[in-house]
Amino acid sequence: MHVNIPGVSLAYTDQGAGRPLLLVHGFPLNRQMWAPQVEGLADIARVLAPDLRGHGASSAVSGVYPMELLANDLAVFLDGLEIDEPVVLCGLSMGGYVAFAFYRYFPERVAGLVLAATRAKADPPEGRANRWKLAEKARTEGIQPIVEGMLPKMLAPATYRDNRPVVEQARAIMQQTALEGVVGALLGMRGRVDSTALLAEIDKPVLVIHGAADQIVPPEEAQAMQEAIPGARLELIPNAGHLLNLERPALFNGALRAFLETL
Ligand code: MLT
Repeated sequence: MHVNIPGVSLAYTDQGAGRPLLLVHGFPLNRQMWAPQVEGLADIARVLAPDLRGHGASSAVSGVYPMELLANDLAVFLDGLEIDEPVVLCGLSMGGYVAFAFYRYFPERVAGLVLAATRAKADPPEGRANRWKLAEKARTEGIQPIVEGMLPKMLAPATYRDNRPVVEQARAIMQQTALEGVVGALLGMRGRVDSTALLAEIDKPVLVIHGAADQIVPPEEAQAMQEAIPGARLELIPNAGHLLNLERPALFNGALRAFLETL
């Protein structure tokens, strides 16, 4: 299914009924990463999983994708589906950066936040320089070196070593990202604002969920986020890396289900 928003067609999955649960994927991924959640949570929520612009089956448009633009895409996407009730917004990694931007602009549209494998901080100077280098590499060599460079870090070391199906699933999902999407998202993440000051102002229920073996965002950052957000809960998933929802779907879904039941 697709929703047309100005200039872009967004592909999405819409399954189940009840409170909308909007799942926002990370980089360079797409909604297929949420397959275990669509399957496992559609009995208690209306699970909505769009492909962000430039990712998966959504249009690949060139240009920088600031997190605010991606957040606005989500708001227009919800409008297109005539969903005006507040959603439970779950963003993983870059999806979390988008969730912060969405919360900043549309707090009234958020019933609760799930911050998965993400961070509030902006990129440090060396991180910004690296984003630029990666975007240049993608422009000259294509997305494959980006995928292969990121893949071992996306999963816990044990998952990468022992769980071939998940490794291949993650690789296949990443390979579907358009060059425009890779470049646009890298440059968008590079310029994102620091959301640390926002944390103390969040007045909606929040679940911070993180893999104990995340190699991209250290678990200490999740703990710091949880401590800064009034009333937030932290779930640390053992033996899971950055793609914790794919690596440990039963634990991830259990935590989300418990969170949804409290709302
Ligand atoms: C992601 O998984 O979305 C990215 O690793 C986030 C990032 O590069 O900061």
